[in-house]
Amino acid sequence: MARLELDYTNALADVVGADHGVSAAELEALRTPSRDALRAVQARRKRDLRWLDLPYESAVHERVLDYAGSVAGRFENVVVLGIGGSALGTIALHAALNSPYHNLGASGPLPRLFVLDNIDPDLIGEFLDQFDPTKTLFNVISKSGTTAETMAQFLLFRDALIQRLGHAAHIEHICVTTDERKGVLREIVGREGYASFVVPDGVGGRFSVLSPVGLVPLALVGVDIKGVLKGAADMDERCKSEDLWSNPALIHSALQWTMQQKKGKPIAVTMSYSQRLSLLADWYAQLLAESIGKRRSREGRDVFAGPTPVRALGVTDQHSQMQLYMEGPFDKWFTFLSVEQPDHAVTIPSAYEDLEAVSYLGGRTFTELFQAERDGARVALTEARRPNVTFHFSQVTPHSVGQFLQCLEISVACMGEHYGVDAFDQPGVEAGKIAAYALMGRAGFEQRRAEIESASPKTQRIV
Ligand code: PA5
Repeated sequence: MARLELDYTNALADVVGADHGVSAAELEALRTPSRDALRAVQARRKRDLRWLDLPYESAVHERVLDYAGSVAGRFENVVVLGIGGSALGTIALHAALNSPYHNLGASGPLPRLFVLDNIDPDLIGEFLDQFDPTKTLFNVISKSGTTAETMAQFLLFRDALIQRLGHAAHIEHICVTTDERKGVLREIVGREGYASFVVPDGVGGRFSVLSPVGLVPLALVGVDIKGVLKGAADMDERCKSEDLWSNPALIHSALQWTMQQKKGKPIAVTMSYSQRLSLLADWYAQLLAESIGKRRSREGRDVFAGPTPVRALGVTDQHSQMQLYMEGPFDKWFTFLSVEQPDHAVTIPSAYEDLEAVSYLGGRTFTELFQAERDGARVALTEARRPNVTFHFSQVTPHSVGQFLQCLEISVACMGEHYGVDAFDQPGVEAGKIAAYALMGRAGFEQRRAEIESASPKTQRIV
């Protein structure tokens, strides 16, 4: 099976200049810190970084597949109720590995998938109007088992199911993925008898796609989860190498740190030249932002660390953001996702032979055009001294996508060591959750509510 490749030529000083690119000496100086970063991460593998071992949890994988098999053919829709790390991996892998027209029936008799990762009443209310809950399986996913958005959605759809089916029959329309012991959702599973899966200890939301968080919904809609897990396991083996030059996660991590800390590039653009891979950029944006975006260092100093992730899609954003990327500030570096062999061969028909401005396209393929645009953009950015690397996927397969996930997770974990921050907490996210509890009047959060209300500035409005 093809290995995912990381080409970092265009991030080197020899290619884009010393102000913007990394010199051999700078990389060499990161050899020992990178090794130490990897050792620090791997030392926690069996302790609190259990997400590293998710690709090997074969008993869990079998349980997920058994469950998916047991409900096969029963539901028209699978709906994920979850947010952040409980949703983004599923969204990205469904887009990558199922047809873009899956929900129109392109993948055969499999259920459609909807991930309601927002609580905008126009999203939720419209869903209630359009969908028959009695033909739907709701997968409620929350590691903490308390997130207000997810719990509110759960209460809504549980109620809709009970109204239509009665209490007893609604049970089999809900499957819960949450912590083994903590959180009110686990308590509810115990009371109701819902099917349930566990988010294991040592697996934070943004590192959970290869746990039942992602595996259950993906298996339900026909994704080859074993292929994804095999890819992740193969990459995991590669990433055990302590040699900077042969470990893609270490190179990627070292480049991210150097680009921000030494080359003045706080913005990390992930630009997918693949529609199917494009939502992996969203998944990575959360992984990077929540892991490295930290006020304090591990020693408690204010550092206000963190790159700003930006997502872009080729060729679409060539006609939108590329102008800025080419000629704007030198504050960005770029990671391209590139596919060598698409699944479809589509030829452009010949016509208007006398009109040169269109006739040159005739008989060529969309792959040729797409790749010409991709390679042209990469060359132009490189000439403009904009450092860039490319992940080369020979094809978009479960195996290649699994490799990407594990590589980027290990890279970000190592970044935590380079940046000196805790890559596995999210105090900023928790603060937002607490503020929402307070403003919704949840018991125990009265003081926070008072603080927020007294701190609210006088409104300034132009009407
Ligand atoms: O990565 C994270 O920790 C967060 O994005 C969470 O996934 C998100 O806040 C949802 O949390 P929970 O799964 O506990 O409902």
